[in-house]
Amino acid sequence: MKDILDQLETRRAGAKAGGGQRRIEAQHAKGKLTARERIELLLDEGSFEEFDMFVAHRCTDFGMDEVKMPGDGVVTGWGTVNGRQVYVFSQDFTVFGGSLSETHAQKICKIMDMAMKVGAPVIGLNDSGGARIQEGVASLAGYADVFQRNILASGVIPQISVIMGPCAGGAVYSPAMTDFIFMVRDSSYMFVTGPDVVKTVTNEIVTAEELGGAKTHTSKSSVADGAFENDVEALAEVRRLIDFLPLSNREGAPERPFFDAPDRVEMSLDSLIPENPNQPYDMHEVIRKTADEGDFYEIQKDFAKNILTGFIRLEGQSVGVVANQPMVLAGCLDIDSSRKAARFVRFCDAFSIPILTLVDVPGFLPGTGQEYGGVIKHGAKLLFAYGEATVPKVTVITRKAYGGAYDVMSSKHLRGDINYAWPTAEIAVMGAKGAVEILYRAELGDADKIAAHTKEYEDRFANPFVAAEKGFIDEVITPHSTRRRVARAFAALRGKQLENPWKKHDNIPL
Ligand code: HXC
Repeated sequence: MKDILDQLETRRAGAKAGGGQRRIEAQHAKGKLTARERIELLLDEGSFEEFDMFVAHRCTDFGMDEVKMPGDGVVTGWGTVNGRQVYVFSQDFTVFGGSLSETHAQKICKIMDMAMKVGAPVIGLNDSGGARIQEGVASLAGYADVFQRNILASGVIPQISVIMGPCAGGAVYSPAMTDFIFMVRDSSYMFVTGPDVVKTVTNEIVTAEELGGAKTHTSKSSVADGAFENDVEALAEVRRLIDFLPLSNREGAPERPFFDAPDRVEMSLDSLIPENPNQPYDMHEVIRKTADEGDFYEIQKDFAKNILTGFIRLEGQSVGVVANQPMVLAGCLDIDSSRKAARFVRFCDAFSIPILTLVDVPGFLPGTGQEYGGVIKHGAKLLFAYGEATVPKVTVITRKAYGGAYDVMSSKHLRGDINYAWPTAEIAVMGAKGAVEILYRAELGDADKIAAHTKEYEDRFANPFVAAEKGFIDEVITPHSTRRRVARAFAALRGKQLENPWKKHDNIPL
């Protein structure tokens, strides 16, 4: 018996050694942790239950039958994050460069299938040279098996990808279909074709970092939802995100203890809106002053900064926030901000996370760039996402809500449940200046008349009361009471039930 136990220990030690000390040192030298070290940081201490530690590839070509490494380049299993179950796969770059073989893919598929059965998120830690070159089509088939599972799991369990090394070629499409992608600065990159192919085909000279590093994907392409300094920070932040999310679409988001009075007043919000309507202010302030303990987990913070998206808690319950940001492009909606917010709204709705919308929007951004880029279709994404969402929706208009953008931003007409406005709200087809220039074009030469008309338009529409008279605004609230009012609104909506008509699926303008 002792011999058998020793044998097991020897085999385990062999598997845990991955690609060996030399390759582990090379991994560390690049500032990267190993697959197992990453899992240790991601999960609660001692909670990891590993599967398939001894799985080996079945390839016999190119001398591969001579080199077998137990585990085959990926460590898989489940564990807990703050006591809640998650499944995880962590690619081991020290074993065949973390490349994906038929068996490597089968290991990932196994934990995805289990996660779907029990209803728990899948977190993928990606660090891979792509398809196992020695295996050819078997490896491609393995990728497609993972893709298919990503698709079926979408909207059922949260899927999170962390890119912690190379992720290139078709391999990028698995993360691309997950809910959130995070990258590690300076040690990760993602691209469909690398710098060499780019140079050959388009004659562009670009580094891997410029083409597909964390900065590119968080600020330009919007492929990634966040970037972190190193592996340790990235994994700690994924733990923090998991705390906001339900384990699956079968249950609600977790309730966490909170230490912040729900009726806390914030007198400073009463003076937040500047006298001059063209002067910006930071919408982060409203979010933080509304949230439990001021905690805001921002998603895509470096992309389309004219809209803010992320998670807060109110009375310990997760709430998704979408907010126009007057500091950037006056908070207008455009292609990028519409896409960013639409995807976020759909995530929240799929996983029953209520949505708080803070509105200060002067309209859609004009211009040929926008029209040629299809702002009509992209803007419609956000409109569609809000309109189809059945989760509790609470809206607060802080200042401008002009034109079509008023409708889009979770208005009453798109089944907003509780719609508040601050007394500083201006709900109109457009700003007074623009309106007067159209209505009184013939009098544009007469400054006094124009000023009088502008004042008249402002008096009539630069307030929330016309909308409130019609019941489109449920209540005009004082800014300092926002946290209390919003928390009570969501509390009142906990029992909300609303179903959309049956359909196979909708046809959102993609
Ligand atoms: C098998 C691989 C591998 C791969 C790396 N290795 N990539 N083995 N298949 N795809 C092995 C190397 O042989 C080496 O083995 C070890 O991993 C580390 O690789 P290095 O090159 O020494 O590391 P580094 O210098 O850091 O470079 C990393 C790299 C490079 C940039 C990822 O290895 C690389 O370019 N690999 C090939 C990438 C690629 O073209 N993949 C196919 C993409 S197409 P030893 O034994 O020396 O440690 C694709 C299609 C997917 O993925 C389609 C899905 C639909």
